[in-house]
Amino acid sequence: MNVSDMNLIFLGPPGAGKGTQTKKLIEEFGFIHLSTGDILRQLIRSRDTLGLQAQIYMDQGKLVPDGLILEMIQTKMEKKCGYIFDGFPRTIDQASALDKIVPVDHVVYLFLSHDVILKRLTGRRVCEKCGKEYHIEFMPSSLKDSCELCKGRLYQREDDRPFVIENRLSVYEKQTKPLLEYYHEKLIRIEACGNVLSIDQENIKKIGLSTHKAMSQCCS
Ligand code: AP5
Repeated sequence: MNVSDMNLIFLGPPGAGKGTQTKKLIEEFGFIHLSTGDILRQLIRSRDTLGLQAQIYMDQGKLVPDGLILEMIQTKMEKKCGYIFDGFPRTIDQASALDKIVPVDHVVYLFLSHDVILKRLTGRRVCEKCGKEYHIEFMPSSLKDSCELCKGRLYQREDDRPFVIENRLSVYEKQTKPLLEYYHEKLIRIEACGNVLSIDQENIKKIGLSTHKAMSQCCS
C-alpha cells in the first residue's frame, strides 16, 4: 500500500519541528513537500517580487496575506495526492481554499512547551545558499559556521530573534490554532519534545495505522 497516495498536513507552533519531520517522511516515503515558508524564503533569495512583498510580513512575524499564499501554492500543485503540507494552511480561509483543491487525509499536530520552542528557534541556523537547517546545540554542522552540503555561510533567520518569535507565537495562537477545531476529525496529536528519530517513528506508526481509511478517501 502506497502511503504517498494520501495528503497530509503538518500543523503546530513555530519551532515544533514541522520542517524537520516532514523532510524525514519525504526521504522515507517520497511525498511531495509543500512548505510555504521554504518556498517564500527561496523566492526572497532569488529576489522575486512576490518574495520581496512577503518578506515585509515575515520579518515582523506576521502572516503573509492569504491571497499571496494561495496564488503561490496553486502554481505548485499539479497532482491531487501525495503531498505533505508544511506550514500551510495557517488560517481558516486557507484551509477552506485547500478543501476545494485536494482532499486532506490526516492533520498531524505537533505540540510542545514554550521553553523548548524558544530554545529550538533561537539556536536554529540556516545555510544562505541551499537553505539546509542546523541547530547550534541539537544538530550542529561539523563545519561550524558553514553548511556541510554546499559550504554556504550559516545565518540566523531574521524572524528567529526573540521579540519576533513572541510575535509569531501570538499570531499562531490567534490565527492558526483555530485550525485544530476545523480539522478535529482528522487530527493526529504528537508530543514533539523528544528526539527527531523517536518523533519520526511515532508519526509513521500513527499515520500508518490509519492508512486503510486514508486510501479509501483518496483520489484516483
Ligand atoms: P515557516 O518557515 O513555516 O515558519 P514556522 O511555521 O514558524 O516554522 P519554523 O520553520 O520556525 O518551525 P518548524 O516547526 O518547521 O521547526 P523546524 O523543523 O524548522 O514560516 C515563516 C514565515 O513565513 C511565517 O512567520 C509567515 O510570515 C510566512 N508564512 C509561511 N507560511 C505561511 C502561510 N501558510 N500563510 C501565511 N504566511 C505564511 O525546527 C526548528 C529548529 O529546531 C531547527 O533548528 C531544528 O534543527 C530543531 N529541531 C527540530 N526538531 C527537533 C528535535 N526533535 N529535537 C531537537 N531539535 C529539533
